[in-house]
Parts: sequence; structure tokens; C-alpha cells
Amino acid sequence: MSDNIIVADKLSEKQQEYMALIAEIMEIRKRGEKPLAFIRTYGCQQNVADSEKIKGMLARSGFGFVDEPDDADFILFNTCAVREHAEDRVFGNVGALKNLKRRHPQILIALCGCMMEQEHIANRIYQSFPFVGLVFGTHSLHHFPELMYHSLVDGKRIFERGNDDNKLYEGFPVRRDGSFKGWLPIMYGCNNFCTYCIVPYVRGRERSREKDIILSEARDMISSGYKDITLLGQNVNSYGKTLQTPVTFAQLISEIDQNDGEYWLRFMTSHPKDCSKELIDAIANSRHISKHLHLPFQSGSDRILKAMNRRYDRKKYLETIAYAKEKIDGVSLTSDIIVGFPGETYEDFKETLSLIREVEFTSLFTFIYSPRVGTPAAKMDDPVSAEEKSKWFRELLDVQEEIAAKRCSSMVGQTERVLIESEKEKTGELNARTSGNIIVELDGDPSLIGTFQNVKITKARNWILKGELI
Ligand code: SAH
Ligand code: SF4
Ligand code: F3S
Repeated sequence: MSDNIIVADKLSEKQQEYMALIAEIMEIRKRGEKPLAFIRTYGCQQNVADSEKIKGMLARSGFGFVDEPDDADFILFNTCAVREHAEDRVFGNVGALKNLKRRHPQILIALCGCMMEQEHIANRIYQSFPFVGLVFGTHSLHHFPELMYHSLVDGKRIFERGNDDNKLYEGFPVRRDGSFKGWLPIMYGCNNFCTYCIVPYVRGRERSREKDIILSEARDMISSGYKDITLLGQNVNSYGKTLQTPVTFAQLISEIDQNDGEYWLRFMTSHPKDCSKELIDAIANSRHISKHLHLPFQSGSDRILKAMNRRYDRKKYLETIAYAKEKIDGVSLTSDIIVGFPGETYEDFKETLSLIREVEFTSLFTFIYSPRVGTPAAKMDDPVSAEEKSKWFRELLDVQEEIAAKRCSSMVGQTERVLIESEKEKTGELNARTSGNIIVELDGDPSLIGTFQNVKITKARNWILKGELI
């Protein structure tokens, strides 16, 4: 491990004491009734995993959890800054809490996560939403109990951000949301500085967790019945580079794969610039790693990839895809795409279309470029109108719909192993997912939720499959 990364053995004793103190305060305030928390999470799985730590700390502080804010004593929004739309939703939803706070003045309303690491956002919250009592950024998670305690006792507004100490904290109690599908963070932060992206500014530098800690957490998850485990990081391919004994991501995932049991291992996200043949071989040779590669390419145009600072070109990307298709039988490929990056022309955009036609992705996450304050792209000339970008965006969706439909119909008649995940509202059907991350709907008993089943694919509707239990 490098010198500037300090791994705490466990959440400090001081924080444990604060959790006990919060429990005492709440016991008095609620006259013995269980205090309740409402947590809403925006953004990516990193945030979901952070919320699971916060829930762990709240549970240790005596809290139970509710699905609606009205009955809560503590309300927390864990926010995402990746696009303007995500931020607008947060502002709208926070504004809606004003009346609740008026009716129940004793409620503590808090905001945390990526948005709160931006100074202009924290200032706006401070000025526009006086009923928000506590704000903390992604670097303050390890002393959340202390911050919450002071908010409760001192009654003053606490705003804390910009505390990136480049440390990696372990020992959080984690309260996972799912009982058979779970997230396992393997690293935090990002060093890539793609020119459009806010993540490196709000999540700090890349830090890898120790391999042994991850292995033991994975073993615990497998033995306690997790069937679908996703290893998380902004760029999992650079896992382990900063550790004292460097380890590759392929080595890490292959070691986890050695554990016996019936489970799938997934990971996200892989960056094309360093998605290695070693990793693709590891997937091909594994027993549990799902046959799915999420490899965001963002743009099919080399000129735009360069302006994005992605550090790979179309040719390199397509070579990686060709290798994956050759080695991993039936591999399912998915990607992220940005439409309308500053300076992108229709010619550039057509290269994105031709790339998706060539690769035939199972599904795509598509975004219209959103300028982020403080990133280099936000200062670039952006002459194309929003209407024009929306037109390109719709064209992209149409092309992808055609490809996904073709890809899914080619699966009709095949037998697929699926994990049954949930019951569909209204129809009573079950939702399941293939190893390639494709949704399958089927009839069956809800008692099957959380189990693996073999299913015959009978129909394809766009990117959703219909199946029958075998
Ligand atoms: N670390 C991951 C992605 C994290 S953000 C990776 O590098 O692949 C998830 C996706 O959001 C990105 O892949 C990108 O497609 C999109 N995105 C990020 N910043 C954006 C912005 N400013 N405007 C539009 N989309 C953006
Ligand atoms: Fe953002 Fe690029 Fe880092 Fe992904 S790799 S989080 S897109 S800077
Ligand atoms: Fe959003 Fe932060 Fe994830 S900005 S996408 S929640 S890392």
C-alpha cells in the first residue's frame, strides 16, 4: 500500500461512542419508541453502497427504516452530481420537504453525497433551504455519527465538504438492501479526469481496498446466501495498482471465483483503455463471473474521444470487443454513450451509430452531454443546439432498439440460466435476469425469488425476453 493511504482497522472508537450517544438521545426524545430514518439514494451503485454504510451506522444508533419521509425522524438524501437532471431532481425533492419540516420541526433533514462536494451547490443549499440541518460530502462518511450527534445536540446547521484526506476507511457496519443481490466496493475515487466528468472532483483520488479485506467480505456474502455480487469501482481495471503488493483486477476476481457455491460475480465499471486480455481470459475461464462486459465507449469518433481524454481510440476499443467475442461464448456487451459532447458534429455522431451497429450491444445507457461546473469540457465551445442534440439522441435510440430486438430474438428457443429477482407489480409475473444481464419475464411462484432456474426463452419483445420454467 502506498504511504499516503492509511487503512483504519475499524471505524474509530470515537465514532462508536457517538452512535451510542445518538441512540440515547433518540431514546429520550422518542420516549422509548424506535426512531425512524428515511434514506433516498440518487446516482450510481457507489452511492447505493455508501447508503448501505450510512444505514449500518444508523441501525447501530438504534434507528429503524421507513419507505416514506412522513413518519421519519431523520431524512437523508444521498445525491448524485453526474448530470444536471440528477441535480435538478434533488433540488425539487428537497424543496418538497419544507412543509414536512414545518409540521414536524424536530425532524433532522440531511444531504450528503457527490453534489455536496461542490462548493456552489453547498452554498445554494445553505441559502435556499434553511430547513436542511446537515450537509456532508463523500469524504466525510467515516465520521457521520459525530456530525449527526452535533446536529442533534447543538441544533446548529452543519455543512462539511472538501475533506479529502486521501485515506481509505474500513470497518463500517453495512446494512445491505438486498438479501441475494449485493454490492461490494473494491475501490473508491477516480484518476481519469475524462473532460466531461465530475466524478474525480467529488470522489477524490483512486484508492484500492486491501485484497484480503475484499476476499473475506466476498466469502461472507457468498456464505450468507448472496447469489449476485457486483464488485464496484469507477474503473475496476486499475484495481490494486496503488497497493503495496500490486494485484490486478483479473487476479482479484479470479480468486473470488475460487469460492464454491451457486452465485454470479459481476463488476462495474471497466474502462476500455485498460480492459486487459487477462481480464477477458479470467471471465472466459471462470465458474461464476457473468458473461457480461459493460464497456462504456462514450463516442465512436476518435476526434471526440481525444477531446474527452478517454485515452483509447475506436480501433483499440473494437479490438477489445473482438477479443471478448472470441473468448467468451455468447458474451453480452453493454455500454454508455454521450451524445452532443462540445464540438461534436453529425459526422462524429454517425461514427457512434456505426460503432453500435458493428458491435451489436445488448443494451445501452445513453446520455445527452450535460456541462458540469469545473470540468474542462464545460469551457469548450458547444455550438450545436439542444433540439439538434435531442434529434440525434432519438436517432440513436431507434437504431439501438432495432439492434436489441434482433439480438434478443436470436435467443428465442434457447435455454438460459436465470436468477429470479422479483414479482412484477400488477401482472403477477416474475422478473428474472440472465448472466448477460438481460431481463426475462416468466410465470412462476414468488417463492422462487432469489433462486437460480433454467428457463426456455419463448418470445422477445425489444430488449425484454419472455420465458418458461423448465
Ligand atoms: N466510471 C464510469 C462511468 C461513471 S459515470 C466509466 O468511466 O465508464 C456513468 C456515465 O455517465 C458515463 O459513462 C457517461 O456516459 C455518463 N456521463 C458522465 N458525465 C456526463 C456528463 N457530463 N454528461 C452526460 N453524461 C455523462
Ligand atoms: Fe468519470 Fe472517466 Fe472517471 Fe468514469 S473514468 S468516473 S467517466 S472520469
Ligand atoms: Fe453520481 Fe457520484 Fe455516482 S456523481 S454517478 S453518484 S460517483
